[in-house]
This record gives sequence, structure tokens and C-alpha cells, in this order.
Amino acid sequence: MSASNTPEWIDHTYDVVVVGAGGSGLRATLGAAQQGLKTACVTKVFPTRSHTVAAQGGIAASLGNMSDDDWRWHMFDTVKGSDWLGDQDAIEYLCRHAPDAVYELEHWGMPFSRTEEGKIYQRPFGGMMQNMGEGPEAQRTCAAADRTGHAMLHTLYGQSVRRKAEFFIEYFALDLIMEDGECRGITAWKLDDGTLHRFRAQTVILATGGYGRVFFSCTSAHTCTGDGNAMVLRAGLPLQDMEFVQFHPTGIYGAGCLITEGSRGEGGYLTNSEGERFMERYAPSAKDLASRDVVSRAMTLEIREGRGVGPNKDHIFLHLDHLDPKILAERLPGISESAKIFAGVDVTKEPIPVLPTCHYNMGGIQTNYHGEVVTKKGRNADSVVPGLMAVGEAACVSVHGANRLGSNSLIDLVVFGRAAGLRCGEILKPNAEQRPLPKDAGANSLERLNRYRNANGSTKTADIRLKMQKAMQDHCAVFRTSESLSEGVTKVAGIAEMMSDVSVSDKSLIWNTDLMETLELDNLMGQANVTIQSAENRKESRGAHAHEDFPDRDDKKWMKHSLAWYDYDKNKVKIDFRPVHDYTMSKDIDYIKPKKRVY
Ligand code: FUM
Repeated sequence: MSASNTPEWIDHTYDVVVVGAGGSGLRATLGAAQQGLKTACVTKVFPTRSHTVAAQGGIAASLGNMSDDDWRWHMFDTVKGSDWLGDQDAIEYLCRHAPDAVYELEHWGMPFSRTEEGKIYQRPFGGMMQNMGEGPEAQRTCAAADRTGHAMLHTLYGQSVRRKAEFFIEYFALDLIMEDGECRGITAWKLDDGTLHRFRAQTVILATGGYGRVFFSCTSAHTCTGDGNAMVLRAGLPLQDMEFVQFHPTGIYGAGCLITEGSRGEGGYLTNSEGERFMERYAPSAKDLASRDVVSRAMTLEIREGRGVGPNKDHIFLHLDHLDPKILAERLPGISESAKIFAGVDVTKEPIPVLPTCHYNMGGIQTNYHGEVVTKKGRNADSVVPGLMAVGEAACVSVHGANRLGSNSLIDLVVFGRAAGLRCGEILKPNAEQRPLPKDAGANSLERLNRYRNANGSTKTADIRLKMQKAMQDHCAVFRTSESLSEGVTKVAGIAEMMSDVSVSDKSLIWNTDLMETLELDNLMGQANVTIQSAENRKESRGAHAHEDFPDRDDKKWMKHSLAWYDYDKNKVKIDFRPVHDYTMSKDIDYIKPKKRVY
């Protein structure tokens, strides 16, 4: 763009444009390319540096290599894990297609760890059981040591390149191009030379991941700013179930880096200041391998009641020091290294200091199980937003409901990335003619870019971001109360107002990281507001939403999905609901009726 702010768009046309190159983005890119569609993947970071690279413990699929297993058992566990907020048609789709999605990765060369007989190695993970929840535990989580996401990304990137998908790397997606309720493409800013791009497409697939950076302490990369979610909010579409934020029990104290749940799957356990394995009190049968929300709450209660460890009694110990060092070296090499670097701990000799840390967003862009974005009316074909899909953590299908089980994330990425590719094959024609974009396509992106580029306020982006992250951490974390949520709503809305006083020092569009971080913060701000307001609105406890003034799940009033819209101009959130799907997609399994959730 010239100094006079005149737009000079560089235009591109593709059948499919995928935004994001993590596990779901690459699987969708590959899937669309496999269908013979001209496919572009637009990504903020180099594909193999996407946040999926940090996924450690594994990918859930009922292969039954190391214990008996069945996709219906996986489905039961996922429904229970979701605290009955997940849509059971979508959960059925996930669990029954999981084994094929994993074998597909294996055949594409993903270097899974192996059993003695050469089968894919599978470890136990939280909440994964045999026999429709009756037990014993299921070894269902397929692993490549503790670097499963890394192995997956490299496999999928290689396959996508092989299929001639085109990559636009270090392009920052700005907005959806919408026309009469239809998505026609996206706008993007190329970070290294400052050029501006419009991508026209028959279908856009958002695969932009979560927005963990809304919180002060998170396992998410700095890039996890939910850019696609914010693009959807700016397009006037809602986000679903944003109050459900997962806190992983074992982030390294102080650093936030992930220590995989696989470490407890391999036999690790948690202790308090009295050396007690306290999970036995909270989850007598699953113990340290209860569902994540249960373990995070138990840890927080132990700390609150004065049984935390360390000089300030503000964290918990994770022990791996009783495990065979050979097993640690073979199955948990990555976290052994992280513990050394970030906590100064030799895992063969000492416990790791850990704390529940923001890890995953169950909420996101409302889709059906084909990956199509739908509006609030329901899941019928007529409610689909034409030209728009979403997959991965950005999407809310909803298979994770109020709480995701560990290792169900990676399988969600590939099952629904694949589903989106297949759907594109069904509904699109390669090289079909596309009508011209509306004349003003991209005007809103230019306005926003210029507004922030020329922002001469008095507050630094980093200061506003820190305020937002601390407010979210203080008011919307593992436990919530009416008082703290309502204070938080006011605080976060006030912090959003500060965006009008932001200062961006660099005015150029070439490698302007100050501007990029400001745009990312703007994206985060909408999501912070809808998250805390959705949380304030839900008067029950379910899954990751633990409301101390309403400690019980209330199926009568609250077995429903929240939908939240955000008006960026007015800094206003609107909330509505839609019913949970109380049906499955086939006759192979009946609806799993709600019951009390104990582990
Ligand atoms: O603990 C972990 O390895 C994380 C896995 C997940 O979030 O699915």
C-alpha cells in the first residue's frame, strides 16, 4: 500500500483457500488437493512451526493394539468427557472415523512409536476406558514418543506439497470477504514485503487454531490468537460455547510449557506438600488419569487449602522419578528436555513443579460434521453459510462439549480436516467460474489496517495485552464465581476500550511486528469479551466451567450451546443458544443418556 493509503490489492483465485497450516489446516489442504481442487493454504507461520508442532502425547483412535477397544467405547468416553454438551452425531463421526484417519497418517509415513510386534504404540490417557466407561482403562492414544504433533505436521506438509497445494507463508489473514451472507474469499497482508492480497475462492476453510493467548499463563504459542474466530465475529457470525476453556493440569510452573498427560499415562503421578497422591481422593478409580477438568480442579483445591508445594505453596509436584530412565528416554524424551530447560529439573531424580495452565478452547466457530459453518438455526442444509468452513481448534463441531479429553484434539484435526476436504469434493467443481468480487471487497480490512497503522495513542499494545491476559486469568480461570465473573466482564470491556488509545510506533507495512501484534490483540479482544460474558451468563457447572455459586450441572436449564456475537464498533456482546444434538448419525449406536460424571 502506498503512503497515501491507496489500496493496491494483489488478487488470486483458487477453488479452495485454507487459512492456517496446523494439523487441521494441512489435512484440509491435502484433502481438497486430493479432490483435484486448486488449493491454496495461507499461513501466518511456516507450516511445520504451527502450534500443532507442540502437541505431545498422542492421537486417540480405537485401534485396539494394546488393549481391547471399540469406537463406541471411545464415543462413550468422549460424550462423558464433554459433560453431555457434545453433539452426539458429530462425536459418532469422530470416533468411528478415527482409526482410518490414523492408518492414513501411518501410510503417509508418520513415524509412530511401535510395539514389539511393530504395531502403532498406544498409551493410556485421561478418561479413556473400555466397556462403555466401565473399565479397565483403554490404551487408545497413538503416539510418536512425546512429539506426536511434530511428526504429524511434517507428514501432512510433505503430502500436501506432493499434491501440489500452494502455500502462502507468512501471510497474515485479515478478514473474510462476505457478500450477501456468502463467503467469497479472504484478505491478507504479506508480512515480509507489506503487500496486500485478496484471495477469491469457492470455499474458504478457517483452520486458525485456538486463542490461548487471551490468558496470562497458557501452553499455547504466541501465535495462538484465534485470528479466524475474530474474522468470523467481524463478519457478524457467532462463536459457540466460548465459556469452555480447558486448563491442562500440568503446565510447568512459571513457564507454562506443556508436560504431556502421556507422562501420567506412562505411570507419573501428582503429589501435594504432604507427599500425598491426592487424586485418589478426588477420582478414586481413574486417579491421576481422570479427565483434565477434574484433575485441574483437584490441584487448585489442594493449593487453596494450603497443600501446595514450593516456598509459596502455589503449585503441585508431578513425579516421574520412579519410572525406568530407559522408558523416560524412549517415550518421554521431549518433556524430559523441557523439564530440564524450563524448570531445571532432572526428571529421573526430582519431581516437576506444575500448575493448571490454559491449554485448549472447546468453543469456536459453529460447524456441522462436514466442517461447514452453520448459523444458529440448526444443522440443516439451509443454515449453512455458503463458502465457509472451519476445522480444528478454531471450530466447534461440537465434539468436545464442555471439556475435551486429552488426545482427542489431534484426532479432531485429521478427522474433520479430512471431512472438509471430502465435502469440498462433493460440492465444488474444479476451476468453476467465480463471479467478480464486490467492488468494495477488502475496504473494511484497509480501514482497520490503516486505523492501527496510524494509531498515535498513549498505550503500548503489550501493556493492553497484559491487562487483558491478567484480567482473564483472575476472573475466568479454573474456578469462577458470580462476583468475580461480573467484575471481570466490566474489566475486560474496559480494557477493550483502550484499543482506541493504542500506539503503534512503526508505520510501515514491511515486517511491522508492532502492527501485527496490535491486529492480533484486536482479534483476542473480541474473543476475551465473548468468553467472559458467555461464562458470566452460564449459571451452572459443567465440564471446564466450574461455577462455585452453581456447583451442579443443570441439564434442564443449561443443556444447550451458547452462541455469542461481538460488535467490534460498539464493544457489545450478544448471547443466544441452540439445542444440543440428542441423536446419533447412524443406528450403530443410540444416544448416550446423561448421567452423573464420576471417574
Ligand atoms: O498432554 C498432552 O499431551 C496434550 C494432549 C492434548 O491436548 O490432546
